[in-house]
Amino acid sequence: MPIPPFELERYFARYEFSARYLLSSSDCEAMAMQDLLDMADDSTRSLWEDLKLGYTESAGHPLLRQAISGTYPGLHSDDTLVVTPEEGIFLAMHALLKPGDHVVATFPGYQSLYEIPRTIGCRMDFWKPAEGHEWQFELDRLEALLQPDTRLVVVNFPHNPTGALLPPDTFRSLVDLLRHRGIYLFSDEMYRHLEIEPGAILPAACEAYEKAVTLSGLSKAYGLPGLRIGWLASRDREFLARTARLKDYTTICNSAPSEVLGIIALANRQTIINRQQVRIRANLDVLETFMAAHGTIFRWRRPAGGSIGFPGFLRPEGAEAFCERLVEQAGIMLLPSTPFQYGDKHVRIGFGRDNLPEVLQRLSDYLAGLSGYISGPGGTGFGFPLEGGCSNHEKQ
Ligand SMILES: Cc1ncc(COP(=O)(O)O)c(C=O)c1O
Repeated sequence: MPIPPFELERYFARYEFSARYLLSSSDCEAMAMQDLLDMADDSTRSLWEDLKLGYTESAGHPLLRQAISGTYPGLHSDDTLVVTPEEGIFLAMHALLKPGDHVVATFPGYQSLYEIPRTIGCRMDFWKPAEGHEWQFELDRLEALLQPDTRLVVVNFPHNPTGALLPPDTFRSLVDLLRHRGIYLFSDEMYRHLEIEPGAILPAACEAYEKAVTLSGLSKAYGLPGLRIGWLASRDREFLARTARLKDYTTICNSAPSEVLGIIALANRQTIINRQQVRIRANLDVLETFMAAHGTIFRWRRPAGGSIGFPGFLRPEGAEAFCERLVEQAGIMLLPSTPFQYGDKHVRIGFGRDNLPEVLQRLSDYLAGLSGYISGPGGTGFGFPLEGGCSNHEKQ
C-alpha cells in the first residue's frame, strides 16, 4: 500500500525555513556546535579531532551505544540500536508487524506512529484522550480497544501534540495489562526528560517491560535535532536483530561526526537537559500569561510534559484558515490541527525556543488587530513591551 504524505512534515516543509517566526516547533532551542564541543573532555575531544570520515558500525558507535544503555538501568549496549529517530519508527514497525495484525495507537499523534502500521496492512484502533481541564489518556479506554490478537500498542508520552503524560501508577498498570496479554509496547519517548513537574518522569518502557521498545534520541530534550541521532532500546534482542537487518535498506549506518557529537552530548546529558528544562518551564509561565489574556481565542490546556501544547481554537473560522492568514500577514508559523487529522479546532504551540516571548508579543499584537476581537481579562496587552514595537500586520 502506498504511504500517504506525512501531513505535518509537509506543512513544516512549506514554512519552517521561510516564516520569520516559528511558534509551533516541537524541538527545544538548538545548541551551537561550538558549545557542545566545549563540553568535550580529553578523550572525547580526541575522538572528534582524530575522526576519519569513513562508514561507521551499523548498530552505532560502541561508545555511543554504551552511553545510551547507561541511561537505562538494567540494559546492556547490545540492547540498543542507533538510528535516526524517524527511521526508528519505520524500522521497528516493519520488524514487529505483518499485514492483518491488530494495533492500537495513541491519537492524535505523530503520523508515522500509526500511518506505518496502517500501510503495512494492520487493523488499527486509536486510543484517544479525554479533553477536560488537561488532556488525559484513560486506561479503561485503551483496555476496551484491545482484542484477543492485539499485537502492539503504540504510545508516546510526553505526547505530541497534547503534552499529555500518564501518571506513574497508570503507566505501571499499562505495562501490567500488556504483559498479562503478551502484547508488545512501542513507546516513543522523544520528549522524555521534558516533564513540567520535576518528579513526573516515567520509567523508560524498555526498563519496565521485556516486550517493550523505547524510541528516543537527541532531537528534543537535548536540542540537537540536526545530529539526526536517535536509538531504539529493547531487551528483546531478536527484535533488535531483525530491525538491524532492515536498517541495511535505509541508512546502513549513521553519520560519523554526528555519532561523536552524540557521545559528547550524552556524557554531558544532565547539564544539557537541565538547561532545556529551565527554558521550557520559564517559557511555559510566559505562555500561560498569554493564554490567560486570550481566553476568548484559545482554550488552554496545560501540558504535563514536552515542549508543545495543543489548545482549542475558539474563533468561528477554522484553525487552518487562521494559521494560513497568520503566516501570510504576520510571518508567524502556527500549526493547525488539520495535519494531525484531528479536525480544525486546535493549534499546536511550541514553547522550547528562546524567542518565545517575542513571538507571543507579535501574535498578541496581531490578534489585537483582528476585527471583532475582545481580549480576555488580561487586556489586549501582553505585559512586556517589545523593543522597537511591531506593527499589527507586518508583511513579510
Ligand atoms: C513523537 C515524535 N516521534 C518521533 C519524531 C521524529 O524525530 P526526528 O524528527 O528527530 O527524526 C518526532 C519529531 O517531531 C516526534 O514528535
